[in-house]
Amino acid sequence: MTDAKTISDHWGKGDVFSRILEAMERSGIDASSVTIEQLAPVDHFHARGFPATVELADALPVKDGDRLVDIGCGLGGPARYLAKRFNCHVDGIDITAPFVDAAKKLSVLVGMEDAVECQHGDGQKLPYDDEVFDGGYTQHVTMNVPDRDVFFDEAFRVLKPRAFFALTEHGLGEVGGPHHPVPWSEDGSGAYLMRPADTVTALKNAGFTDIKVTDTGEKYLQGYNRAIELAEKGQAPVFGAHILLGKLAPQIVRNAARNIEERRTHPVQIICSKPK
Ligand SMILES: C[S@@+](CC[C@H](N)C(=O)[O-])C[C@H]1O[C@@H](n2cnc3c(N)ncnc32)[C@H](O)[C@@H]1O
Repeated sequence: MTDAKTISDHWGKGDVFSRILEAMERSGIDASSVTIEQLAPVDHFHARGFPATVELADALPVKDGDRLVDIGCGLGGPARYLAKRFNCHVDGIDITAPFVDAAKKLSVLVGMEDAVECQHGDGQKLPYDDEVFDGGYTQHVTMNVPDRDVFFDEAFRVLKPRAFFALTEHGLGEVGGPHHPVPWSEDGSGAYLMRPADTVTALKNAGFTDIKVTDTGEKYLQGYNRAIELAEKGQAPVFGAHILLGKLAPQIVRNAARNIEERRTHPVQIICSKPK
């Protein structure tokens, strides 16, 4: 099995859009009038979900009318949020076809199909011309990327001079050897975690400068612990990321927390820029 297929099969099991619609119905959300805020518990599919996207957006120099690229856009929640908040255009690309299908249909549901265009593809081979984007970001994608150098070279290539590039990820911790399953892998296959210092070196090698690294482990841990607490009390929301994670969700969330506590992973947010 190729790596792309391993990764895509891991994330996109079955008809993702139908599962989202069913969960919306069960939780009383009317699909004909749904808002991006109502979709947020599911379509911001990364540690801490929507609040983490908002904090990332607060730190990004996006301007009205910018064109951004979301590499590994998933269901398109972050892309729709940024497009709406900054009145910009976002091109999303993702390796998991059922996610791209759901991303497109969700954008139609909220009337944002012109502002957010998602397509199927690999971040290691972007289908865009050189220097067309004012900024780019990749949230919780690089854990699955075998060739970081090519991935960062591609991001650098499609960005205009002075553009920003942001990433969030679970880096490899000092202790290493994460417990599985985790959100990005059931058993370690398709997982390519790197220590944050090595990620910074790879970004520098690609040509990025002004590299700012923020540790996000403490905040992620609070988010995971809150989810564990709600699940234990039987109060987990019907419309939540567990509908994407499947039946391993409780174990995945516990391991994600434990890996941070045991310094097996080292989550970071990194923002940098392409020089003039
Ligand atoms: C945890 S989800 C994050 C989705 C989205 N960025 C978000 O924050 O809501 C990880 C995503 O990375 C995508 N992905 C992994 N490797 C990729 C690659 N080489 N190119 C494009 N997408 C990739 C997966 O298909 C999945 O949708």
